[in-house]
Amino acid sequence: MPFTVPPRFLWGASTSGHQTEGNNVSSDWWGLETAPGTFVTEPSGDAVDSFHRWTEDMDLLAEAGFTDYRFGIEWARIEPAEGLVSRAAVAHYRAMVKGAVERGLRPLVTLHHFTSPRWFSEQGGWMNPKGVERFTRFVDMTEEILQDEVAHVCTINEPNMVAIYTGALAGAGVDSSGGLPAADPALTERLIEAHQAAREVLHRNNPGTKVGWSVAMQAVEPLTTDDQPAARAFAAERETRFVEAAVDDDWFGVQSYTRLRVRASADGPRTVPLPEHAERTLMGWEYYPAALGNAVREASRVLGDVPIIVTENGIATADDDQRIAYTGAALEGLRAAMDDGIRVDGYFHWSLLDNYEWGDYRPTFGLIAVDRSTFERKPRPSLSWLGGLPRAQAVVA
Ligand code: BGC
Repeated sequence: MPFTVPPRFLWGASTSGHQTEGNNVSSDWWGLETAPGTFVTEPSGDAVDSFHRWTEDMDLLAEAGFTDYRFGIEWARIEPAEGLVSRAAVAHYRAMVKGAVERGLRPLVTLHHFTSPRWFSEQGGWMNPKGVERFTRFVDMTEEILQDEVAHVCTINEPNMVAIYTGALAGAGVDSSGGLPAADPALTERLIEAHQAAREVLHRNNPGTKVGWSVAMQAVEPLTTDDQPAARAFAAERETRFVEAAVDDDWFGVQSYTRLRVRASADGPRTVPLPEHAERTLMGWEYYPAALGNAVREASRVLGDVPIIVTENGIATADDDQRIAYTGAALEGLRAAMDDGIRVDGYFHWSLLDNYEWGDYRPTFGLIAVDRSTFERKPRPSLSWLGGLPRAQAVVA
């Protein structure tokens, strides 16, 4: 059954600041990208220059028929040194919020998307005793940007990936013998604390703001029915804990790309390597659009009635027909979950633009291609296809 877009449904595409803006020089990621001997193969550099070209990005999104835009505010730009607030950065993001609204795009704003100011991370980041307070102080600074024009705020993007990879990024290394490394339990609890404290600040500043966070949902499947307890244990600390932490939130963000299959072993749960012949995306992930519906069902199993918003779903591919096929199939799975009574309030595609994929530019996720030397935007057919879905249905009806 093809996906029909319900009335008032959020229908958008997503980006993040660091991956698109360029020259996020006060961020910890910029430090990592410019240090020798890391896994990074190319630095983000100018990215796709959305810092200067955001009006063009929003125009393309709105003209294609979308009604919603998810973008991020970079903490490192707002507070490049502790306590030093860049008025220019505040004005920049305020203009983005206003610019979105003027174009008929409802902004969904992310306050932390993998990057922190360098000073924050150099002082132990989240695990510094002042980590949560530093984050909430920044969250408070965004009041002036958000005002009452941003209905949905995502506090922290994929906190589970932060808890899984922060150790490795800091050079401590992580144990990945089970496939996806384990999450750091102390960091997990600290991130939950930060999220809940941020929610309080946002609600205090504007009781109407709907606050949530977005979790990387792995659509974990047991290899056989005997592997069910192993799959559950595998997901518990890498995912379920973060979903449960959203039980009092206003909405919950599902981010889904593929599935992981897990089996039991004498050394604990292990991910099952993909067979040679399996179809893969440019990320090396299994081509598996059904993951989205399954991820949404899992979120709803844990959270009951908390409204779900798909804040990321998409595919890294050089073939735009494949992007359309993947997305169409993922939306069918979403439709089936909604038909079964699960409340889903929106869908944001990852990503509006090809962008910096945390180490290199090779995986292309964009509905819009970007020439990396001229920054010319070249919309792909998938942009008008996806943006046109609500319109296409209105015509049919
Ligand atoms: C992240 C994005 C990333 C995407 C594809 C998510 O993990 O939020 O920043 O580009 O997936 O890997």
